[in-house]
Amino acid sequence: MRAWHWITACSSLLHIWLLLSLFVDRSNETPLEKCRGKKSCQPPRPPVVLIPGDLGNQLEAKLDKPSVVHYICYKKTDSFFTLWLNLELLVPVAIDCWIDNMRLIYNGSTHASSSPPGVNIRVPGFGKTFPLEYLDPSKHSVGMYFFSIVQAMVDWGYTRDDDVRGAPYDWRKAPNENKEFFLVLQQMIEEMAEKAGGPVVLIAHSMGNMYTLYFLNQQPQAWKDRYIKAFVSLGPPWAGVAKTLRVLTSGDNNRIPVISPLKIRSQQRSAVSTSWLLPYAHSWPKDQVLVQTPTTNYTVLDYKQFFSDIGFEDGWLMRQDTESLVADLTPPGVVVHCLYGSGIPTSEAFSYSDKFPDVEPTVVFGDGDGTVNILSAIQCKRWMGKQKQPVMLEELPGNEHVDMLLNVTTVAYIKNVLFSP
Ligand SMILES: *[C@@H]1O[C@H](CO)[C@@H](O)[C@H](O)[C@H]1NC(C)=O
Ligand SMILES: *[C@@H]1O[C@H](CO)[C@@H](O)[C@H](O)[C@H]1NC(C)=O
Ligand SMILES: *[C@@H]1O[C@H](CO)[C@@H](O)[C@H](O)[C@H]1NC(C)=O
Repeated sequence: MRAWHWITACSSLLHIWLLLSLFVDRSNETPLEKCRGKKSCQPPRPPVVLIPGDLGNQLEAKLDKPSVVHYICYKKTDSFFTLWLNLELLVPVAIDCWIDNMRLIYNGSTHASSSPPGVNIRVPGFGKTFPLEYLDPSKHSVGMYFFSIVQAMVDWGYTRDDDVRGAPYDWRKAPNENKEFFLVLQQMIEEMAEKAGGPVVLIAHSMGNMYTLYFLNQQPQAWKDRYIKAFVSLGPPWAGVAKTLRVLTSGDNNRIPVISPLKIRSQQRSAVSTSWLLPYAHSWPKDQVLVQTPTTNYTVLDYKQFFSDIGFEDGWLMRQDTESLVADLTPPGVVVHCLYGSGIPTSEAFSYSDKFPDVEPTVVFGDGDGTVNILSAIQCKRWMGKQKQPVMLEELPGNEHVDMLLNVTTVAYIKNVLFSP
């Protein structure tokens, strides 16, 4: 099994490139304006932007730390190195250094999170596909992510970093702390559409769908009509994922035995996006017990108590900071293709002994793709009839959350979206 599977959590999620256009435009009109409403100059294929999910793109770090948690940890580095995904860092002892570099520190008065002192984290390669084709830059197949989709697109005539580009971001944070990302994303979409003479197709995976929905909800309808051809949504957690409750409570090593769940829990709790992805009351049954202990049952309405009882009060602040970002599920106002896996056992509820929260739970499984509960994935159906653009749902039985990116059915579906008028 690929390590990305083990590590995929949910818990399982700059600069602009201008390339010379072959098309020399002699009028003052941009290609996009020229083509509006004219079938004859329909571009042969729409440009594509890929938006990855939680843990779904590379992150780099540069260190100059006042102190370290273990003598083997680097205190200072001369340059940036790959912090995610680098399997060499995820082994005993080294993982303690990794956790101390990867964690965020939340400030309850500013409601902002930042890296620990002396840790500088950056997202490499905005606008390029490499940070999300393989999470591991050495291209071990262990970190394969968007590669098979991008490679198929290249076979259909696309060019990497030109008309298919990636939009990586700091997935430890929620959109409220990634404002710059949305600005450069908007600029990149506009540039790609102008250059191609037609609107862009957005393809998002997992938490990237929540990011994309937030982005589209911020744009005026006229902008979306002009620049977006379609939104292909793969494995979307529209209503959150139940798995996050386990991640926050006791940590989740995703079955990598050498990693202690309780150790990795501190890093997983510190990622604001984890609390953002807790199940949402708009879709989850309000009487469904998500976490059960000998003394208490927690539902979607009990998060304040839950955070207090697991000893992570900041989590409640993080949830309040982020809950409203997409909680009303405002229709995106573009053509939506919603593809989701089903038939894979997916964590739905967790039962803890009196050692709660410092113990592994008994898991109750339900339907979904192994990460995203089906109840959450299908919420795009509420947009049918609520926006004038069509909304299509496509269930992919037997598809696991990350494996669905490799499945021929998914790839064929994308091809059809790209090449049908
Ligand atoms: C939180 O931010 C405020 C304002 O910048 C600062 O004064 C305070 O020291 C910070 N708190 C912590 C715990 O860093
Ligand atoms: C929690 O819910 C279960 C049923 O889901 C019930 O059997 C149990 O008594 C409840 N526990 C408490 C403390 O309310
Ligand atoms: C690909 O997805 C289809 C549709 O869900 C499924 O029937 C098929 O088994 C999948 N193929 C593989 C190799 O997983």
